[in-house]
Amino acid sequence: MKPSQDRATSGGRSSPPGREAGARVVTIANQKGGVGKTTTAVSLSAALAQVGCRVLLVDLDPQGNATSGVGVRGENAAATVYDVLVDDIPVDDAIEPTAIRNLFVVPATIDLAGAEIELVSAFSREGKLRRALDTAREDFDYILIDCPPSLGLLTVNALTAADGVLVPIQCEYYALEGLGTLRRNTDLIQANLNPALEVVGFVLTMHDGRTRLSQQVVENVQKHFGDRVFSTRIPRSVRLAEAPSYGQPITVFDPGSRGAVAYHRLADELLLRFRPPDLDQGRLASVAGHEGAGT
Ligand SMILES: Nc1ncnc2c1ncn2[C@@H]1O[C@H](COP(=O)(O)OP(=O)(O)OP(=O)(O)O)[C@@H](O)[C@H]1O
Ligand SMILES: [Mg+2]
Repeated sequence: MKPSQDRATSGGRSSPPGREAGARVVTIANQKGGVGKTTTAVSLSAALAQVGCRVLLVDLDPQGNATSGVGVRGENAAATVYDVLVDDIPVDDAIEPTAIRNLFVVPATIDLAGAEIELVSAFSREGKLRRALDTAREDFDYILIDCPPSLGLLTVNALTAADGVLVPIQCEYYALEGLGTLRRNTDLIQANLNPALEVVGFVLTMHDGRTRLSQQVVENVQKHFGDRVFSTRIPRSVRLAEAPSYGQPITVFDPGSRGAVAYHRLADELLLRFRPPDLDQGRLASVAGHEGAGT
C-alpha cells in the first residue's frame, strides 16, 4: 500500500533532496535482550502519531513483536521487511496501516531470521534498508526501527539507515554491560557506512523509584552519558507488560497509565531533541494533556 494514499494530508510537501529532509530515522538498539526496545519502539511510535506526526515503525526483529504490538498480523501482510531486504520489493508495498491514525508499520515475521544469512552475499548488504527507506522518508516525520537483540547484519542495516540511535537501558544490575560494544559498533558504522549517525539518547526503562538499585543505575548512567540521557524515565508497570497481548500500544490500551504518560513525555523530548527539519508545527496537537503524572 502506498502510504500517501491513505494518510492524513501531507501538507503539500515536495520531495526535498538530501538526507536531512523528510523523516528523522531513529533506530532503537541495544544488543541486550529484554531491555524494552520493542516496548519503546511501539509506545513512542504511537505517542508521536497521536500528537500528529506521521510515523512509520519498521520491525526489524524476526520475533515480530513490534508488528503484533501495533495490532498487525505479519503472516497476513501482503509483504514484509524480509521481502524488502532480500527480494528488493519497494518499501511502499510492505507498509501496512494500523488502527492508529498516522501510524504505519513495515511488518516482520520469523522469515526474517533467514535474511541475516541470505544477505551475506548481497551487494552492499549493509545499506539495503537505507536504500529501501529513501523513498519513504518524504512521506513521514519519523521512521522508528526496532532491532533484534544482537549486533548482526539486521542491526547494522538499521544503524546504517538511521539518522540517530536511541538506546533503551533497563534499570538492573548489569545495565551498562555491552554498551561499550554497542558504542564501538556505532563508531565503526559512523566511520565506514553512515557518517551522519548521531546518538539521540539513552532512555532508562523499567525504573522503580522505590528501589536503591534503580537509583544507582540512574546515577551510573547519568555519570557515563550526561545530558544524553533522556530526563523521562519509563516506570516498571504491569500495564506496559499487558498491552502487547491486546495488540495495542500502551497509549491506546491505557492512556491514563503511568507508562502511557511516560511515553508521551518521551515523545515530547524526542520532538525537542531530534526534530524533523521541515516538521510543520501547526500539524501537531497540544501535548499539554499529558502533564501531571509521575514516573
Ligand atoms: N516499563 C516496563 N514495565 C514492565 N514491563 C515491561 C516494561 N517494558 C517492557 N516490559 C516487558 O518486558 C519484556 C521485554 O520488553 P521488550 O520486549 O520491550 O524488550 P526488548 O528489548 O525488545 O526484548 P528483545 O531483546 O527480546 O527484543 C516484555 O515482556 C515487556 O512487555
Ligand atoms: Mg524486541
